[in-house]
Amino acid sequence: MSVHCHIHALGAYAPEHILTNDALAAMVDTSDEWITSRTGIKRRHRLADGELVSDAGAHAAREALAVAGLAPSEVTHLLFGTCTPDRLCPSTACITAAKLGITGAVVTYDFNAACSGFLYGLVQCRALLAAEPDARILLVCGEGLSRRMNWRDRSTCVLFGDGAGAVLISSRPQGAIARLDDVICSMDGKCMELITIGGGSARSYAPGEQVHDDFFITMQGREVFKHAVRNMAQICKDILARNALSADDVQLLVPHQANMRIIEAVSSRLDFPVQRVFTNVADYGNTSSASVPLALYEARKQGRMPSGTLVLMTTFGGGLTWAAGLLRVA
Ligand code: ACO
Repeated sequence: MSVHCHIHALGAYAPEHILTNDALAAMVDTSDEWITSRTGIKRRHRLADGELVSDAGAHAAREALAVAGLAPSEVTHLLFGTCTPDRLCPSTACITAAKLGITGAVVTYDFNAACSGFLYGLVQCRALLAAEPDARILLVCGEGLSRRMNWRDRSTCVLFGDGAGAVLISSRPQGAIARLDDVICSMDGKCMELITIGGGSARSYAPGEQVHDDFFITMQGREVFKHAVRNMAQICKDILARNALSADDVQLLVPHQANMRIIEAVSSRLDFPVQRVFTNVADYGNTSSASVPLALYEARKQGRMPSGTLVLMTTFGGGLTWAAGLLRVA
């Protein structure tokens, strides 16, 4: 009998502090009109001073555990998807586990697929469950992109926000809220320079030395836009085809919340009516790996995922990486 990946609970966290477009326009040479018309973003959440990505992840994870009725001691794996970890070492997964009171014979590690993190994480969960059907996995995706924003680069600093999402996954169908029917991931490292965040070992720094501009997020917006639309639309077509489905069979499209114009272009290439597309980019901006779990969390709260709904998810991010997944709501 094949083992399925079942989602038992969702948790989400957005920091209290909200940065509106008007507040941003007081810091940077931009305007609410420019940001809204080019991206659809109205506001984004920002970590408070001293608040860490692991704090955001732990908030989301605590909610997922509470909803699933699972004690931290029952978790066997904690996977943390992030491109803005607290530190290079130790992993944000280990730090989050400590904050949750998880310790002992548990597998904890970070992985980085940038904005595609959630779907890359689901691929790992599916493989883990095939090897260890009794695993109870916390998949957490969290970001603190405001910590790597170059406030002198107005074409990128208006786009991103902070937040976290978490899901509790096992192979047990009992009590699950959704089943993962399929997931496909793809990448192209030749385009690695299109979206970058520094701070790794590519550069050496002496204590007290100033960081270079590539320490912050850099993005070639127009090129990213084209790759994002083309690749998300194609991988959605691929996953539908390999499951003998058409767009008409899907009740809800949950795309990576990067930018309203990208979402509209992908939906239009898939002939997907806007009423069946979930968006919350206006309120959160682009939260990278956290964007799809945050969107699923809100879609569910808003009653957009009734029993039987087939949800198509798609992501795109630095790497380049992109992915698509199909969820069937229980
Ligand atoms: N406010 C005001 N003016 C601005 C701003 C700003 N925040 N940013 C750029 N401009 C100006 C530029 O200086 C330029 O002015 P000029 O013509 O006088 O030189 C003009 O606006 C046009 O600049 P472009 O960069 O060409 O603007 P474009 O129409 O391409 O929009 C944007 C920029 C919104 C970033 C667009 O390229 C885009 O959406 N790209 C995709 C980026 C994205 O969403 N990435 C996330 C997906 S991947 C991931 O999640 C990591």
